Amino acid sequence: MADALKIGIAGLGTVGASLARILQTRANALAVSCGRAITIQAVSARAKGKDRGFDLTGIAWYDDPVEMAEKADIDVFIELMGGAEGAAAVSVRAALKRGLHVVTANKALLAAHGVELAKLAEEKGLLLNYEAAVAGGIPVIKTLRESLTGNHFSRLYGIMNGTCNYILTRMEKEGLSFADCLKEAQRLGYAEADPTFDIEGNDTAHKLSILTTLAFGNQIAADQIYLEGISNISIDDIHAARDLGYRIKLLGVAQKTATGIEQRVHPTMVPLDSVIAQVDGVTNAVAIESDILGELLMVGPGAGGNATASAVLGDVTDIAKSRPGAQQVPVLGRPAHLLEPYAQAEMTRHEGGYFIRLTVVDRTGVFASIATQMANNNISLESIVQHSKTPAAGDQAKTIILVTHATMESAVRTAVAAIKGEGYLLGEPQVIRIERPKTV
Ligand code: HSE
Repeated sequence: MADALKIGIAGLGTVGASLARILQTRANALAVSCGRAITIQAVSARAKGKDRGFDLTGIAWYDDPVEMAEKADIDVFIELMGGAEGAAAVSVRAALKRGLHVVTANKALLAAHGVELAKLAEEKGLLLNYEAAVAGGIPVIKTLRESLTGNHFSRLYGIMNGTCNYILTRMEKEGLSFADCLKEAQRLGYAEADPTFDIEGNDTAHKLSILTTLAFGNQIAADQIYLEGISNISIDDIHAARDLGYRIKLLGVAQKTATGIEQRVHPTMVPLDSVIAQVDGVTNAVAIESDILGELLMVGPGAGGNATASAVLGDVTDIAKSRPGAQQVPVLGRPAHLLEPYAQAEMTRHEGGYFIRLTVVDRTGVFASIATQMANNNISLESIVQHSKTPAAGDQAKTIILVTHATMESAVRTAVAAIKGEGYLLGEPQVIRIERPKTV
């Protein structure tokens, strides 16, 4: 048998501890699969005394992950600390410069520095694996990076944040408040250290930027993503969506258009009878549309210790099985120096259907005025529903819900601005984009 692969794990939170437990309890089976043993040689975390359910005997402890990256007797540095900057970025750079393979689950780090790190790894002939960074346990990185090479991609979209999907599902199915659902997602270890990254869509944006690069071959452009989170979604929206045959999901979407690549993250209405509408709780889903394969939908656990550790483990075993000196898989799907500049499509030119919820003063002519503003902007309506009473907004209020046929974002923005100017709106209009799966 070949020499053991020696690994160091930086970060022993939910994922790191799960990984260490699995590596120890399945050591024999893993050695058989990989043709060599995988040994935990070093670990780094904040609190040494804590019981994490695995045996620390014989494992070197480092208080400082950077020191571990620079000095530990390891072949692979596994970064599970998180954060785009600070210890994660410094230690990953140090590990690559020193000639160590790296495995990370850190989407924020890759969104910010992925191209630079990919170049560094490729110059040194190293693997930089990051399956756990996107959609938890779903093997979407390997699928895009390796299995679908040669396909041309037209659109990919998905539910990539388990916390948001968990919140939206429990709000709809159990009528729980947003705050209670978020607390529970935190307790279960799904949420980011700062959960605003989940609910404001940043986490989905980080993940989307990585998938966009793998699909479209552009440099990572996480800061050029149109972003709306779910904190503005009310139980009224969720119920109205269901009445109209839709469910609300936080989607990340990357789409090739005539003017460039759209990257957008926003609450989205998906048809109730689509598969993605049935994806509940912490489960994630990624749909990929390409010319040779057609439509692929991958569904699986999106967050949590074991699901994420499973993806990290796959990355580690890939390194254990790789041949020393062989050419490695390009980190971002093609050699990093061949990635193209990102050609951003303008959001105002996005085309699709829209759900618009308006709370209005109950008086004659309002309905007609709304219809006129829509017609003035060439917006064709799929449905218009008027709820006679909106108790939360008072007796004099009515809710009007419009669903448009495919139209342009700029037309919707102009029409909504004109309606706001008419003086009969109570509160802010709610506008939610509709996304239609091709077939599934
Ligand atoms: N906070 C993330 C989520 C963890 O909820 O999906 C997995 O990336």
